[in-house]
Amino acid sequence: MRSIADLLPRLKPRDPVLLRADLNLPIDSGGVTDTNRVEAILPSLKALQRAGARIVLISHLGRPATVDPAFSTAVVASSLQQQLQSAVLHLPEIPAGAESIRQLDGLAPGGVMMLENLRFDPGEKANDTDFARALATGCQYFVNDAFGCCHRSHASVDAVADLLPSYAGFLIEREIEVLTRIRDDAQRPFWIVAGGAKVRDKLGVLGHLSGQLDGIICGGGLANTLLEGNGVDVGASATEPEALSEVREVLLGGPELVLPVDFIAGDQLTRPTRTETVVVGSTPGEGMMLLDIGPETATLFCQKLEQARTIFWNGPLGVFETPEFRHGTATVACFLAEHPGLVVVGGGDSAAAARQLGIADRFHHISTGGGAALEFLEGTELPGIAALERSATGGVT
Ligand code: 3PG
Repeated sequence: MRSIADLLPRLKPRDPVLLRADLNLPIDSGGVTDTNRVEAILPSLKALQRAGARIVLISHLGRPATVDPAFSTAVVASSLQQQLQSAVLHLPEIPAGAESIRQLDGLAPGGVMMLENLRFDPGEKANDTDFARALATGCQYFVNDAFGCCHRSHASVDAVADLLPSYAGFLIEREIEVLTRIRDDAQRPFWIVAGGAKVRDKLGVLGHLSGQLDGIICGGGLANTLLEGNGVDVGASATEPEALSEVREVLLGGPELVLPVDFIAGDQLTRPTRTETVVVGSTPGEGMMLLDIGPETATLFCQKLEQARTIFWNGPLGVFETPEFRHGTATVACFLAEHPGLVVVGGGDSAAAARQLGIADRFHHISTGGGAALEFLEGTELPGIAALERSATGGVT
């Protein structure tokens, strides 16, 4: 795999570089709520700027099914602009069309322009070569620094690497270095704390990883799905029972699986008008969803993790963004921050929670990838990394 460090000496001022970042940032009605993923790409971005490259920045944001202004990357471009303290031109085109090419021509050395959300075009998820070709138009090199997206075989991380000389950014290099150490040399007992949404993705990976683990702590949507699978009444909580059937046996026969024993329930994800504590086995009130782990569960989880020597935490244990449902995640996160073992945090939402709690610097590493980090630990070859390797060995130079 070629590194951005190999590219920098080759770059001539004004060379156009396509930079794939994972700027899938947490946003609410007030804008971006955590800038960890922005800061994480600054070393690559600033190095390209210093070399005088003109940078075409691309990212997805959320999971829009089609063009949807609520998922425009304009909000991301303005967050980046604040961090860089220099202009980031946002272009509402995806892929780059005539207007973008014209703007790219006029970009000064070190200038940055950001295209619209990659997922507004179905070619992105389809890993479509024509879409990748359109992304590459006008660019001379490709730098992938989107570690969090490397587990996706999407055009902007996979197909595009066959079209331009391609390089791994500094963030991808650092992520691989740290996660390789954990994957190949994890001290046992090795536990995973899994929460958050994306239940289907996580259950699959946990199923595959289970042979390497001593225990799995489950919260968030994952716990609701597993409990429902055990016949527990989870009220109006969102679950994905079909995802469970694929891994049920692996999980049941594998490492110790620790599920919540109580919850904080609410009638709405944000601004709840009613909340209640629900003990597993009792029936939640009408219309109530299980939105945070309860106090007994937080104590249980911390006790279980005491003897672990390696811990990977991926996903909040409740709806952390809502103050009423933050406590469980905060309790376990603060416990993990003081833990003497090797504790790594993965994923945008867990990283955001650690930062909001002011404890991010207490962890060994905060990975920008959630699903990508889990799949890397599992030993799967990530399509985005494989594409960079392919480009280095037989690709365009
Ligand atoms: C993430 O947030 O984990 C990455 O940006 C990947 O997003 P995705 O799960 O929607 O592909």
